[in-house]
Amino acid sequence: MIPHSRRGFLTQLAAAGVVAPTWLLSTAQAAASVAVAPAVAGFAAARAAGARVQATLPLRRGEAAVLAADEGFWRDVQASWAVDRSILNLENGGIQPSPALVNHAFIEAWQQGHEAPAYTLNRVLMPQLDEVRTRLASAFGCDREELALTRNTTEGIETVLLGLALRSGDEVVTTTQDYWRFQNTLRQRSEREGIVLRSITLPVPVESTDEIVDRFAAAITPRTRVILLSHIINLTGQVLPVREVVRMARARGVLVVVDGAHGFAQLPCTRESLDCDVYATSLHKWLGAPHGTGFLYVRRERIGEIWPLYPAPFELRENIRKFESIGSVAAAPYLGIRPALDFWLAIGAERKLARLRWLRDRWLAAFIDDPTVTVHTPRSVEFSAALVTIDFAGLAPAKLAGWLWERHRTLVRPVVHKEFRGIRVTPNLYTTAEELTRFVEILRAARTGGLS
Ligand SMILES: Cc1ncc(COP(=O)(O)O)c(C=O)c1O
Repeated sequence: MIPHSRRGFLTQLAAAGVVAPTWLLSTAQAAASVAVAPAVAGFAAARAAGARVQATLPLRRGEAAVLAADEGFWRDVQASWAVDRSILNLENGGIQPSPALVNHAFIEAWQQGHEAPAYTLNRVLMPQLDEVRTRLASAFGCDREELALTRNTTEGIETVLLGLALRSGDEVVTTTQDYWRFQNTLRQRSEREGIVLRSITLPVPVESTDEIVDRFAAAITPRTRVILLSHIINLTGQVLPVREVVRMARARGVLVVVDGAHGFAQLPCTRESLDCDVYATSLHKWLGAPHGTGFLYVRRERIGEIWPLYPAPFELRENIRKFESIGSVAAAPYLGIRPALDFWLAIGAERKLARLRWLRDRWLAAFIDDPTVTVHTPRSVEFSAALVTIDFAGLAPAKLAGWLWERHRTLVRPVVHKEFRGIRVTPNLYTTAEELTRFVEILRAARTGGLS
């Protein structure tokens, strides 16, 4: 029997004389060696709330913008996560918790996979991954033969950046704000193979599509082969006009690789709306799928030109599955994608985005007109969503983030970049209006009383 609550699971471990591994405990719990956290909402209750969301929300009518402010509408959604409410988690830009019904599906599949793996994993569970592929492809609006299941955005983007046959002197354009890993990847190719990396800067923030497209266009030369572009810049929450950059670049014969780590399921987006050729995302971010899940989309005509990271059978050269040829993996994380998709679709992509923006404005409104505050994130609907990076004059970001955690069990991400700095604040659908009111009060206390 699988205990259906983390609390129950921990209690069973304790009864069996097993010390719970630290990955089962939140940081604060681990530090205090507390085996059971009373502040963690019940797993069973959260699952039930998730089931109500799936049954009732698709039937609710109303403008997304109006529903965004309707606390009654969001109550069951908020209750669908068994999160530790003694922690004010405003760091949902890195990795997110899954709703309880997703964790339940994951645990069930994990258990089944261990019953007799040669049969239950390889012959019962793994074949179901093709259905997951089909469902994801339908949500992203591409063909199932264009979508590979991956473990995260990193795997998808590295596959493409390392798998493209670039020669010495070929040029790749990216920005100084792209994800550090992929900048390193390109630097490595530069040192090892002589490709040329051109990093452009973008204003912070920027609300002009033309300005963004023009900066990329100006960096293109006859040797440019690839542009690497973030759908949403993780450092600031800036949304970039993917479609316009892709169209400009395509006309010049340049492939655009889109880092969609924060795009899919934070924003309603499809292959058609982005018109892109390559898009990689992490489903453990905004979809709320199990940790270690993502997808890589490659337009069918471009699959053949990208080598897989791990050599695959040569007959798969034109087959998207060559990117999945990475050895034995667990099926359970991927099978958790199905309930995560159901949950997101029940809420509705537009309604989710409207609520995320409402949550953002709920706390940001308290500071937006303050001349001693710098907001690095655009406000307009076109260029921003949930993530905001804000700098309070006189409060060093790392110190402020440390103080927030140590004094108030509040998680935010410090951002220190050579062009800007601040703390990144990212609420999620489980965040309540009251929690954001508390956050504003805490920040006000930091500003008046200092961080000592
Ligand atoms: C813009 C961006 N790209 C890529 C990644 C990598 O995501 P993952 O660690 O899930 O591969 C992140 C992670 O936060 C990110 O913010």
